[in-house]
Amino acid sequence: CGIVGYVGTGNAGHFLLNGLRRLEYRGYDSAGIAILSAGELHLTRSVGRIEALAQRLGSDAADGPTGIGHTRWATHGPATEINAHPHVGGDGEVILVHNGVIENFQILKDELIGKGYDFKSATDSEVVAHLIAEGLKVTPETPESPNLRFVQAVQWAIAQLRGTYGLVVSFRERPQMLIAARFGSPLVLGVGHGEFFVASDASPLAGCTDRIVYMADHQLAVLTPEGFSVLHRDQGKVNVQIQPLEAADDEVSLQGFDHYMLKEIYEQPEALRNAMRGRLDEENATAVFGGLNLTPQQLRSVERIILTGCGTSWHSALVGEYLIEELARIPVSVEYASELRYRNPPIENNTLVFGITQSGETADTLAALRETKRKGHRTLAICNVVGSSIAQAADGGVYLHAGPEIGVASTKAYTSQCCILTMLALYFGRLRHLSYEGGQRIIQELYGIPGAVQEALNCNERVKEVANKYQDATNVLYLGRQYNFPTALEGALKLKEISYIHAEGYPAAEMKHGPIALVDTKTPSVFIVPQGSTYDKVMANMEEVKARGGPIIAVATKEDPMVDAVADDVIRIPDVPSILQPIVSVVPLQLLSYHFALLRGCDVDKPRNLAKSVTVE
Ligand code: G6P
Repeated sequence: CGIVGYVGTGNAGHFLLNGLRRLEYRGYDSAGIAILSAGELHLTRSVGRIEALAQRLGSDAADGPTGIGHTRWATHGPATEINAHPHVGGDGEVILVHNGVIENFQILKDELIGKGYDFKSATDSEVVAHLIAEGLKVTPETPESPNLRFVQAVQWAIAQLRGTYGLVVSFRERPQMLIAARFGSPLVLGVGHGEFFVASDASPLAGCTDRIVYMADHQLAVLTPEGFSVLHRDQGKVNVQIQPLEAADDEVSLQGFDHYMLKEIYEQPEALRNAMRGRLDEENATAVFGGLNLTPQQLRSVERIILTGCGTSWHSALVGEYLIEELARIPVSVEYASELRYRNPPIENNTLVFGITQSGETADTLAALRETKRKGHRTLAICNVVGSSIAQAADGGVYLHAGPEIGVASTKAYTSQCCILTMLALYFGRLRHLSYEGGQRIIQELYGIPGAVQEALNCNERVKEVANKYQDATNVLYLGRQYNFPTALEGALKLKEISYIHAEGYPAAEMKHGPIALVDTKTPSVFIVPQGSTYDKVMANMEEVKARGGPIIAVATKEDPMVDAVADDVIRIPDVPSILQPIVSVVPLQLLSYHFALLRGCDVDKPRNLAKSVTVE
């Protein structure tokens, strides 16, 4: 979900609506805005996208100097207007937006109902609104400091919450003030002149202010037009660091593309150049990373690496496993972050844990890193969003520098992650067994990758034809081996996410132990079969599908004449060494899912039920 808040002398409405547009990637099943003006509350909520909310607000919407807004990704309660935020507590004295999940909401709700509070929604968030209203009742007046009572009411309420929250609260009695509180769901403050902002990440603040403060867990912030202060939940005032916000506006515009996803697919050559910039050291035949925060001695003594993440980032972890084991000979385990956080596996000393995440906000990845850090292991982030929660929580890490990724289906972040993992494998390899020549060769091959991806993008027209031909499919299999097994998983995930077609990714040889039963004349199989050590084996797997009447789409190297004899449709990509194939062979699969989705009339950038970053567990 996404949060925005404004207090100042200007008009809140403009910032809130535009801010929500920029946060829409975090959830978009319903949205709402509350504005306080001349002691009156104007609350507007709507099911669906921000544009639906904008239409409802109309051109002459009430405006005022204080307001909060929210875009929702439903957890408790379906996407209805009543369940949309902001929520109102008590008899209208508290107005609140909330991200996160309140685990003990039912107990608190029962207690509040017992005290006469009237619940309108099915959400856990409304509980917090009423609880703060109850907090106001039990907190005495503080004439010496009029804001204090409100702060104390929020403190009283959050002390009873179990779970996670990023909250922004406004009060009917004190319309010139907002209180924000964070535990587990990020909040960023924007520092202006006579106006102050709050949002769940920095993107809505670009263009409004260039000074920001990242709130930490257990912190509360009080914002008024005169200034802001940050308190620790129970230890009083804290001094915070104001940081510069650097964001280029053109990075978040469509620049002539029909969709962000397509723009981001085409940005991959540039994103890969940015991932490599300054990180390849030809003289020593290795890679260099400025932010690992580990001594050479610590790096040499690493005995195991755990790679963890969710969704597409988990797929890049699988690519990383192959790469690091092959180049550095360090044992690697790949873990779903959501499993790792509760599984409590035995972890040897000298284990490094990498959290891989585009957003840096995925709740499960953050929790998995915290849990392993608590047990004494070094945690590092491979992350795109600078200053994000995971970037801050880890002991060190590597930024992707891929630029903002807006389309919900991850594309350029995935290939950038694969590129970073290749460089990490090179780096660890050169600390151990990899020869100087071996390192040199990989560097030269990496230099060629942006060009190879550029060339792979030329398949777009061909991919469009293929999508046209198979657009009525209801099941698709994706099959690949070794370095292209994760590519098969990622291709299938992309198709599911944006075109809602059921797809399965499998290691090509494993297919005969189950999924082959799905093969029929209406179920296409996409084989990722570039030249390499398993080429012949995958060709044999292709024959097995062909023998059962299944249509075959092959992603193959351009100089491969043999594949035409078996496949019904061939998509050509340039030849690159096996270890780099994941970065190139995924490109046609990204485009394939894009064209399938377009043909089926799906909303490419905002697929149903999904959110770009899942900040609840
Ligand atoms: C969500 C997104 C996926 C993404 C996953 C992990 O489910 O829809 O596209 O791969 O989260 O996100 P992260 O930001 O941690 O990479």
